[in-house]
Amino acid sequence: MNAHDEGSPEGINPNEPSIARVYDYALGGKDNFAADREMGDRVMELMPEIPLMARHNRLLLGRVVRFLAGEAGIGRFLDIGAGLPTMENVHEVAQAIRPEAKVVYVDNDPVALAHARALLATTGDTHVLDADMYEPERILAEADSLMDLDQPVAVMMLSMLHFVPDEDAHRIVRTVMDGVPAGSYLAISHFGDTPRARKATSFYRASGAQVVPRTPEQVAEFLNGLDLVPPGVVSLPEWRPDKSVPEVDLMGPMAMVCGVGRKP
Ligand SMILES: C[S@@+](CC[C@H](N)C(=O)[O-])C[C@H]1O[C@@H](n2cnc3c(N)ncnc32)[C@H](O)[C@@H]1O
Repeated sequence: MNAHDEGSPEGINPNEPSIARVYDYALGGKDNFAADREMGDRVMELMPEIPLMARHNRLLLGRVVRFLAGEAGIGRFLDIGAGLPTMENVHEVAQAIRPEAKVVYVDNDPVALAHARALLATTGDTHVLDADMYEPERILAEADSLMDLDQPVAVMMLSMLHFVPDEDAHRIVRTVMDGVPAGSYLAISHFGDTPRARKATSFYRASGAQVVPRTPEQVAEFLNGLDLVPPGVVSLPEWRPDKSVPEVDLMGPMAMVCGVGRKP
């Protein structure tokens, strides 16, 4: 039993699995309840590669932020569906390269928000926004008041669009990218459309949650109208690998895909 099982802060229902806490469990974290672990174990029976995917996703996050803060010269980060702070958080990676970098973390999970706030209590350039991604206009307005969206911003949507059905997902991406200046970037990582992912989808659906795996072509559609940063939409380990990335892709080809685009 984890410490959190002993009491539940306001707004947290320990009996309902949450996306953020199941992800934390898959990453080997301890900020999860029995219901999250049960859900995690059942999904991992169908997709044993999930912990590896989660780990690759965090490695990707590090590489993407290093590229954006370094080579791309970006100083503002809007991380939508930020999750529980874990290894290499966006503000840590970005501010190591650009100490003045500003970061707004957005999530609607009370545990993720509480952790983000505790971790960030000492930093003035990093903010936590309690908002639902289904309200992109509100996210833009609040992010603007926290870090001025008059300069290019990196919009991060890592491992979250596969929880959103097509119509909403495209609306959210379009609204956010329409609201940021030219020179802004969008970074996406996403469950691939593999046979095992489809099985997991049915399981999620039966549990009342939705997961929408997508092909690389479908993920590329989110980046339409943007200039794709090489190497384009690829499996996570193939996106600008560095020495932290194992050469053999044990996740399985296209188990999870990603891409980064720049608004012209
Ligand atoms: C799998 S985690 C990904 C975390 C992080 N982006 C990463 O890639 O490591 C997905 C996150 O999206 C958040 N999320 C899910 N639905 C959301 C919504 N409607 N509004 C805001 N955040 C949401 C969850 O709470 C969770 O923290």
